[in-house]
Amino acid sequence: MKSVINVALPKGRLGEKVYDMFEAAGFDCPSIKENNRKLTFENEEKGLRFFWVKPSDVAIYVERGAADIGIAGKDILLEYCPDVYELLDLGIGKCRMAVAAKSGFRDNREKTLRVATKFTRIAREYYAGKGRDIDIIHLNGSIELAPILGLSDVIVDIVETGKTLLENDLIPMETVVPISARLIANKANFKFKSEKIEAIVNGLAAISKQNQ
Ligand code: PRP
Repeated sequence: MKSVINVALPKGRLGEKVYDMFEAAGFDCPSIKENNRKLTFENEEKGLRFFWVKPSDVAIYVERGAADIGIAGKDILLEYCPDVYELLDLGIGKCRMAVAAKSGFRDNREKTLRVATKFTRIAREYYAGKGRDIDIIHLNGSIELAPILGLSDVIVDIVETGKTLLENDLIPMETVVPISARLIANKANFKFKSEKIEAIVNGLAAISKQNQ
């Protein structure tokens, strides 16, 4: 029996871009373009099955082997450290993890810095590296509100265009780490399906070079 490669795509605009790269590399699945609410799509002839997954869940599917490969943001990989192979930087979904604060904010090192973020591990490691004492406030969204309402001194969050910060009168202060979309693979499944997965990696690497 022909082996099938299960691919977890992040649902949304980034996932659509990623699928276009698969298609351009010859790993297509035409039924995915049908406008419906299905979550799984298969190209039997090519031995490919795609499924749409919430972006922050891709690494979970891949780590547990429900997907052989998937596309996850470097932010998720750094935050959750899933036990997966990181095979390729796709060069899309580029943004950065940054520290931002209200304009005029000055850090007083005699006080503990209050940091609001969804990315507590990334923030902790960043400030530990600087020897700065912090108090982490974990939020699930609308992080930009925290300094505005005095809940935190700074935020550590994703900045893409900078528009959200600008419109909320916040200033980006430091870049913590650059982020982009990465192709990841389940470690055990990679061994069994290495030939086909490597063909996909090579195909996507060529397309990603063309895109840059
Ligand atoms: C992210 C991030 C910022 C915004 C930055 O949110 O948390 O709010 O994007 O983008 P910009 O620099 O282009 O304005 P996202 O849309 O991923 O949703 P979230 O609220 O779930 O984090």
